[in-house]
Amino acid sequence: MKFAQRIQNIQPSMTMAISAKAQALKEQGMDVIGFGAGEPDFATPENIKQAGIDAIKNNDTHYTLVSGTPALKDAIIEKFDRDNGLSYHRNQIVVSCGAKHSFYNLAQVLWDAGDEIIIPAPYWVSYPDMVILANAKPVILNTDESSGFKITAEQLQQAVTKKTRALVLNSPSNPTGSAYTKKELEALAEVILKNKMLVISDEIYEKIIFDGFEHCSIASLSEELKQNTVVINGASKCFAMTGWRIGYLAAEEKIASAVSKLQGQSTSNPTSIAQAACVEALIGEQTPGAIDKMVTEFKKRRDTLMDRYAKIDGISCPKPVGSFYTFPDFSGVYGRQWNGKTIKGSLDVAEFLLEEAQVALVPGIAFGADNNQRLSFATSMDNINEGLNRIESALKSLHP
Ligand SMILES: Cc1ncc(COP(=O)(O)O)c(C=O)c1O
Repeated sequence: MKFAQRIQNIQPSMTMAISAKAQALKEQGMDVIGFGAGEPDFATPENIKQAGIDAIKNNDTHYTLVSGTPALKDAIIEKFDRDNGLSYHRNQIVVSCGAKHSFYNLAQVLWDAGDEIIIPAPYWVSYPDMVILANAKPVILNTDESSGFKITAEQLQQAVTKKTRALVLNSPSNPTGSAYTKKELEALAEVILKNKMLVISDEIYEKIIFDGFEHCSIASLSEELKQNTVVINGASKCFAMTGWRIGYLAAEEKIASAVSKLQGQSTSNPTSIAQAACVEALIGEQTPGAIDKMVTEFKKRRDTLMDRYAKIDGISCPKPVGSFYTFPDFSGVYGRQWNGKTIKGSLDVAEFLLEEAQVALVPGIAFGADNNQRLSFATSMDNINEGLNRIESALKSLHP
C-alpha cells in the first residue's frame, strides 16, 4: 500500500500514545496512576449538559451553517467582548470540531511550502505536525525555566527571516503552565508588527488561572495587532467539554471566510447539539460558578504538587500560573543507573517511572523539552499524593 508523503512526514500524538499505553497496562491489571490527562477530570457542568439535552428534544439535530450557528457566533462575540475587550462580527468567527481543528484549518488555508512558522518550545504537541501537514516549516524557539518558559522580543526578532509568516502563542501554556503578562506581550507586539507576521494566539486555557493572574489576549493590545491576530479558543478545557468537540477562531474576515470554505468541503458544521450546549457554556448564568469550583480544586492540587516537588531530590519545577499541567525538570537524575542502564533523557525517565512506580507521565521530548516530564493535575488529590509517593521512592532507589 502506498501512502501519501504528507502522512509519512508527521508523528502520532505522543500524549495520546502515552494515555493509550497507560490504559492498556490498567486493563492488564496493573495499578497505574496516570498523570497524562489532557482533559479536566470533572463532569461537564449540569446547565451545559441540560442545554445539549434540550437541543436534542427540540430537534436541533440538523445541519447548521458551516461556520457555526448564529446563536453560537453571537455567544462567542459576547464572550470576546466581555472577557477580552475584543469586538468581532459574525463573519469573523468560525466554529470547528475542537480548537485542534481550528488550528488545522488555519494552517491549511494560510501556509505553503517554504513558509516559516515560529513556535516557542515547550509547545503543545500538535502544532509542529499541523504546520508540517501544511508543507510549511516549524521554526522552534527554545525557552527554559530561567525565562519562565517564555520567549523574549530579542529572541523572536532573531528568529525572523524573509520567510516568516506567523508566530504561534499559547498562553496559558500546555505543557508548562506559564502565561504571558500584558507587558511581556507588548514587548513581543513591537517585533510582530515591525515584521508584519501573523499571530496565532491559542487561549484555550484562559480561565484556568491562579493567584490572581490576569489573562491578556495579545489581540486586545491595539487595533493593528487585532488585525494581525487569529485568536483560537474552545470549550474543551475551561468547561470540561473535551468530548463535545467545539473550538472556534476569530480573525479578519478574509481569513475566516477561507477557513469556512475549507470546512465546507471537509467536515461541514460541528455537531448541532454541541453548538447549542456551547452557547450555554459561554453565556449561561451558572457557568461562572461551575468554572470557579473547578479552578479552586485545580489550584489546591497544583499547590500540593509544588509542595511535594520541593521535597524530592532530583526534581525542580517552576510554579504554573495557569492550565492544569506542571512541567518539572528531571535532569537532576540523568546519569543515574536503572536496570544496568543509564538514564539519559525524558523517554528513559518516563519508562523507568512507568515500570518501577507504575506512574504514567508524558516525556518532555514530546513538547520539545527533553529535560522535563509533563504531569497533569487533572486527576484526584489521592492519585496525586499516591503518585508522588511512588515517584519519590522510585527516584531514591536509583543508583548514582
Ligand atoms: C494548547 C492546546 N490547544 C488546543 C488544544 C485542542 O483542544 P480541542 O481540540 O479539544 O478543542 C489542546 C488540547 O490538548 C491544547 O492543549
